[in-house]
Amino acid sequence: MKGIILHGGAGTRLRPLTFSGPKQLIPVANKPISQYVLEDLRNIGIRDIAIVLGETFPELVMQHYSDGSRFNVRISYVHQGKPLGIAHAVYLCKDFVQDDGFVVYLGDNLLQKGIKSYFEKFLANNYDCMILLKEVDDPSRFGVAEFDEKGSLVRLVEKPKVPPSRFALVGVYFFKPIVFDVIKDLKPSWRGELEITDAIQTMLEKGYRVGYSIVEGWWLDTGKKDDILYANSLILDEHGVREIKGELVDSKAEGRVSVGEDSKVVNSVIRGPAVIGGNCIIQNSFIGPYTSIGDNVKVLNSSIEYSIVLEEACIEGVDRLEESLIGRNARLVKNRAKNAVKLHVGDYSEIEL
Ligand code: DAU
Repeated sequence: MKGIILHGGAGTRLRPLTFSGPKQLIPVANKPISQYVLEDLRNIGIRDIAIVLGETFPELVMQHYSDGSRFNVRISYVHQGKPLGIAHAVYLCKDFVQDDGFVVYLGDNLLQKGIKSYFEKFLANNYDCMILLKEVDDPSRFGVAEFDEKGSLVRLVEKPKVPPSRFALVGVYFFKPIVFDVIKDLKPSWRGELEITDAIQTMLEKGYRVGYSIVEGWWLDTGKKDDILYANSLILDEHGVREIKGELVDSKAEGRVSVGEDSKVVNSVIRGPAVIGGNCIIQNSFIGPYTSIGDNVKVLNSSIEYSIVLEEACIEGVDRLEESLIGRNARLVKNRAKNAVKLHVGDYSEIEL
């Protein structure tokens, strides 16, 4: 079996962060989202992985994953460029896949329990394709499954206005190479993309064996800021550990708090689960639960909760920062002398005062 990670797409809903990198490299709990995906594939024994790159800073993806040896896998890169659809991206991997079965994993999807049990079910049942489904409150944001009265899967439809059920397609798909014959004849959808949902629908119509599993535990499609913050909280909750490598001076680290090497926490309280990267300075501050702070960040005289702060950012004199996603090298400073707000804000930023 081989693995394909989709790392393209436009990431418009995560601007301005996607002006300087692809959305799948945004870290949650200080690790890029797509690295959880890669590790999930590796943990089920998949060693050959293709990463499909888009137009948004593909070089940063190659820099991070390189040849894969750091992660104990072999990585091939496939350039898609414009996001012409998930099925289009998959088709570009035909030569990489050859005669093997394969898993397609969207680089922005996170599953609490990973995909091991579904992978085993796919192999055991000799399906031509297997999809994962999850019951959600807002199915029209996703591909949606329709079942007949006997509970058999009869139809899949992409982002329907009137959803036939509440079961959304999760962004993990298992295939045999026969899917390439189907994609070859696919026509673009109303949004101009070759939809993987349409490819699987065609497989159903042609009588191929399409299986499904209902995902246990949480599943997240991290397309927007709130999804990323939520993913951060769930991952810190689940995997947060206590590990203090840096120095604590007149400070308290309560519960599962990790502080990276060469970081200095002075006269502050850090309440877990929380993670602080390396070489940070946290002074006269409170870092609350569900917060991840990247490397080389400075937090002075501030309090932060349920947030992600990326590398090199500086936060000073900010009383209550909550539910915030702060980009690399951003500077947030309260000027107490002046009763005015002065901003230097990137395109498509969002500020709630
Ligand atoms: O997350 C699950 C959903 O993913 C499914 O329920 C939908 O059926 C499926 O179409 C997909 O919907 P999205 O609208 O969320 O897809 P999005 O455009 O966000 O792309 C998903 C991932 O695939 C994302 O990491 C970007 C990448 N991608 C996407 C396209 C269209 C590519 O690498 N190339 C592409 O051409």
